[in-house]
Amino acid sequence: MPTKTIQNLKMNFQIKTIADYNQAYKQSVDQPEAFWADIADNFYWRKKWDKVLNWDFSSPNIKWYEGAKLNITENCLDRHLQDKGNQPAIIWEPNDPEEHHRVLTYTQLHQQVCLFANALKNNGAKKGDRICIYMPMVPELAIAVLACARIGAIHSVVFGGFSAQSIADRINDATCNLVITADGGFRGAKDIPLKNVMDDALVQCPSVKKVIVLTRTRSPISMIKGRDVWWEDEIKKAETLGMHSHQAEEMDAEDELFILYTSGSTGKPKGVVHTCAGYMVYAAYSFQNVFQYQAGDTYFCTADIGWITGHSYIVYGPLAMGATTLMFEGVPTYPDAGRFWDIVDKYKVNVLYTAPTAIRSLMQSGLDFVKDKDLSSLKTLGSVGEPINEEAWNWYNENIGKRNCPIVDTWWQTETGGILISPLAGITPTKPCFATLPLPGIQPILVDEKGEEILGNGVSGNLCIKFPWPGMLRTTYGDHERCRINYFATYPNMYFTGDGCMRDEDGNYRITGRVDDVINVSGHRIGTAEVENAINMFTDVVESAVVGYPHAIKGQGIYAYVILNKQAIDANLTRQDITMTVSRIIGAIAKPDKIQFVTGLPKTRSGKIMRRILRKIAEGETENLGDTSTLLDPSVVEAIKNERV
Ligand code: PRX
Repeated sequence: MPTKTIQNLKMNFQIKTIADYNQAYKQSVDQPEAFWADIADNFYWRKKWDKVLNWDFSSPNIKWYEGAKLNITENCLDRHLQDKGNQPAIIWEPNDPEEHHRVLTYTQLHQQVCLFANALKNNGAKKGDRICIYMPMVPELAIAVLACARIGAIHSVVFGGFSAQSIADRINDATCNLVITADGGFRGAKDIPLKNVMDDALVQCPSVKKVIVLTRTRSPISMIKGRDVWWEDEIKKAETLGMHSHQAEEMDAEDELFILYTSGSTGKPKGVVHTCAGYMVYAAYSFQNVFQYQAGDTYFCTADIGWITGHSYIVYGPLAMGATTLMFEGVPTYPDAGRFWDIVDKYKVNVLYTAPTAIRSLMQSGLDFVKDKDLSSLKTLGSVGEPINEEAWNWYNENIGKRNCPIVDTWWQTETGGILISPLAGITPTKPCFATLPLPGIQPILVDEKGEEILGNGVSGNLCIKFPWPGMLRTTYGDHERCRINYFATYPNMYFTGDGCMRDEDGNYRITGRVDDVINVSGHRIGTAEVENAINMFTDVVESAVVGYPHAIKGQGIYAYVILNKQAIDANLTRQDITMTVSRIIGAIAKPDKIQFVTGLPKTRSGKIMRRILRKIAEGETENLGDTSTLLDPSVVEAIKNERV
């Protein structure tokens, strides 16, 4: 056997048949360490691990590949240079279809990442630093992410739709010392003033010493001497100094790779932490097997890198597999609702991975936008982020896949790092609305309220995972106890997902939605408590309660019941004021769709809001509200029912 060097490594873990899947699944359960050691053998390690897995869910303490040394970017970039140096790594489609697209080959991406890694170092960044990235969907965003990983800095990407207050909360929680942003970004017909928003955030962020600003919209912005520098200047400086190469920092398997903030049912968003080795192995393994990516395919994931889908399935997973990943700056409806199909046609996309919200919105725009587009290159379609309803599944299957492309309905979470339950394209029989079967290594379990396992098929319960997998979160940044309480304390010795789930007669899983106070708006996770806190910041609000309700396009909408301290003179204007306040505090994605002013909320004698009743009323159900006998004042419910908006 020749020794495995970075040049002659071959990825060899593709499942090709259902028999392969069954065999891999069985081995992953019977001998998990041997299974995950074999998979990890396909990667480039500076030093191999001493122990594959060390775990204890009660702390929790989860360690994969302990003792191993690596840098994820050597696996995403350097290892492909010899065989795939001239192959496109990233294809970038701009917001404006008239603007030139860009292609970065693996060689070019490697060069850019090395240069920017040196620019980061020249600006004082070092291993272990936390770096906040707030950028539009341009290739430099992927370059920034990879350059952080290259120098061993921990990136915390914040989605471009979040407000200054949300950015400040995230920067302060992680005490970031450096920020990478852009003057602005283009999204549809809008210019997003990213640097201005960042400037507002930075007023509250004493830890930030440097801000690197990319030019994208070239809109006027403030640049503060000593703190703010231009991306382009820093790249030129690195070039002038001849800093074209960069020796990647050697990282421990369990060193932190990134933080990504996500909402839970209580308090402020938590910083989910992923570490280097396990995340890399799981992102690559799941990418390869779920999408059945073939060499030469063009793969298009429509997510934003600000979310976990973009981290795992635009950047790390595809690049680790040497794939060609397409990044799109814009929105599905600009300049018209045919944009995705234009992109598929233009680049001959083979794999398309998008969200049910996008499918529903494009479906509503009608088939005129699809009919003249050549979609014959498509082989696999993916769905992520929220349950896909049958109508959308069928429309996607018939009009986009032409009944010829398997649809992989991929269930997973920010915390899971990668896809846990999904068909493997063309291998697992699909079933509309079902995420079907767990990937090898994933041991789902359904439990009742008491944590008792619900055995057998044709059953429903709360979805937990009873054994660790390499891509799982390790902690929540700066607050390990919060991680324990949120995910590992509800049911002992299990990871609790927060999702409800049913298992059909054949053992296929169908995710039915959150069972906690988290709502899923257009595939974005929003905590009801967070929205309530933001509404309560409005000067005239006494109290509020927020619930989700079914929304034809977004999946769920936000319905807010609000008590004011005085009668609004102009109710509509007050609604707009409240909406604006929420935009300021969280961001436009958390704006309530409906606001109903009420004089009281249904509470139990102990003062707990009965959300179940509010949810039913928001859904339009006014008759069967269930047991209301524990309410302190049942007349409140009548008033709310009568004034539904
Ligand atoms: O409720 C589930 C839903 O999205 C939640 C995770 O949200 P987030 O961490 O933002 O990650 C989204 C992208 C992975 C889950 O708890 N969800 C995600 N995928 C699906 C889904 N619900 C049903 N079907 C899916 N395929």
